[in-house]
Amino acid sequence: MALAGLSCFQFSILLLLSSLISPTSCLSHHQNNKHAALFIFGDSLFDPGNNNYINTNTTFQANFWPYGESFFKYPTGRFCDGRLIPDFIAEYAKLPLIQPYLQQPAGYQQFVYGANFASSGAGALAETFPGMVIDLKTQLSYFKIVVKQLRQNLGDGEAKQLLSNAVYLFSIGSNDYGNTLSTNSSFFHSNSQDEYVKIVIGNSTAVIQDIYMNGGRKFGFVSLGPLGSLPGIRALEPENNSEVMTEITHLLKLHNKALSKTLRNLETQLKGFMYSNFNFYTAASERINNPSKYGFKEVKTACCGTGPYRGIPSCGGKRGLTEFELCKNASEYMFFDSTHPTEMANQQFAELMWSGIPNVTGPYNLKSLFERTH
Ligand SMILES: *[C@@H]1O[C@H](CO)[C@@H](O)[C@H](O)[C@H]1NC(C)=O
Ligand SMILES: *[C@@H]1O[C@H](CO)[C@@H](O)[C@H](O)[C@H]1NC(C)=O
Ligand SMILES: *[C@@H]1O[C@H](CO)[C@@H](O)[C@H](O)[C@H]1NC(C)=O
Ligand SMILES: *[C@@H]1O[C@H](CO)[C@@H](O)[C@H](O)[C@H]1NC(C)=O
Ligand SMILES: *[C@@H]1O[C@H](CO)[C@@H](O)[C@H](O)[C@H]1NC(C)=O
Ligand SMILES: *[C@@H]1O[C@H](CO)[C@@H](O)[C@H](O)[C@H]1NC(C)=O
Repeated sequence: MALAGLSCFQFSILLLLSSLISPTSCLSHHQNNKHAALFIFGDSLFDPGNNNYINTNTTFQANFWPYGESFFKYPTGRFCDGRLIPDFIAEYAKLPLIQPYLQQPAGYQQFVYGANFASSGAGALAETFPGMVIDLKTQLSYFKIVVKQLRQNLGDGEAKQLLSNAVYLFSIGSNDYGNTLSTNSSFFHSNSQDEYVKIVIGNSTAVIQDIYMNGGRKFGFVSLGPLGSLPGIRALEPENNSEVMTEITHLLKLHNKALSKTLRNLETQLKGFMYSNFNFYTAASERINNPSKYGFKEVKTACCGTGPYRGIPSCGGKRGLTEFELCKNASEYMFFDSTHPTEMANQQFAELMWSGIPNVTGPYNLKSLFERTH
């Protein structure tokens, strides 16, 4: 940004000369630049390539063509043709692209803008795809390493200010419920649905509270989307599909309701706690029900994959199946592969999270969280 090298004082003189912008924008420009970092936690909706660095097999990795084909022009590890929601949020917040935490070279310099700990396949529970993902608790332990480095390098006072002005973004839970479909769902089946939701929310809440104890105040959440509309779920055989749809839909409604309630409680219990909750379920359903209104030609079938709805997760040919189909123009599709949105869809979601009105993103949107100073 052209003005980034100017001091606030120089910027004010420019303002006096032009008098186009109100002087208060000098203050917020300065503070935003200095303090509103972005820390990202969660699953494949947010993972920019952390899983490239863990010892696993390709199930939860996307570091091969055609992933990345439309924006980065190389496979970064993102489960998408292009950018993810946090990439757009960082851009709107005038931050650099937030790199995968595990890719960071040693040194705290990048961490003043934040860090991304998200891992594809991760859930709030350690039981969700154990050994193949970085679960939420481990993501939290990485965050604490960053906090330590910031304190050492900036001093306690400045680190505290950075952490309290930062925004903490979460996408977590889909895999805890998706995992209930896998062969090893013994943990799920040993609990009632209500208990299971309570455990998922309980573990998410513990992480939020821990970040709060470390100075975090502004939190953003993506609630669970309509998992039953994913090409990968549509592709299940009809007799299994309706059963799965009913169970998953019930679970994620319970989850989203419990999440809303928990966030309202945290707001009253924790002094200074502010949050933004994006109604992903409604926003995604709205697009699936009115594709052309949002510029999509295809919202049921994925751009990349095999079989009905291209719902078999073969995109890239590295997960057992070597053959797969790929659409010509991913921007016409809502889903890039069997379970992940295209960049076009991610951009629309990011815009709603950034500046959406309270019935979609509330009680605050991300723009107002970033602008608020603590
Ligand atoms: C990939 O992980 C799964 C689940 O842990 C395992 O069953 C499979 O053998 C692994 N495949 C390879 C090639 O390591
Ligand atoms: C299955 O889940 C249990 C927890 O219920 C866990 O201890 C075990 O490691 C899991 N096994 C595999 C193969 O993922
Ligand atoms: C967190 O999850 C574990 C299972 O991984 C469960 O035993 C524990 O009760 C959960 N904690 C909360 C606070 O819900
Ligand atoms: C569907 O259910 C049948 C019977 O319960 C089972 O044999 C089959 O493997 C299932 N198919 C899929 C794709 O899950
Ligand atoms: C791809 O589709 C988008 C959205 O419909 C359109 O704007 C764009 O021009 C298309 N690109 C190509 C290369 O056809
Ligand atoms: C939110 O309100 C706007 C304007 O009143 C309306 O167009 C939109 O459909 C509403 N969205 C939801 C999710 O209720």
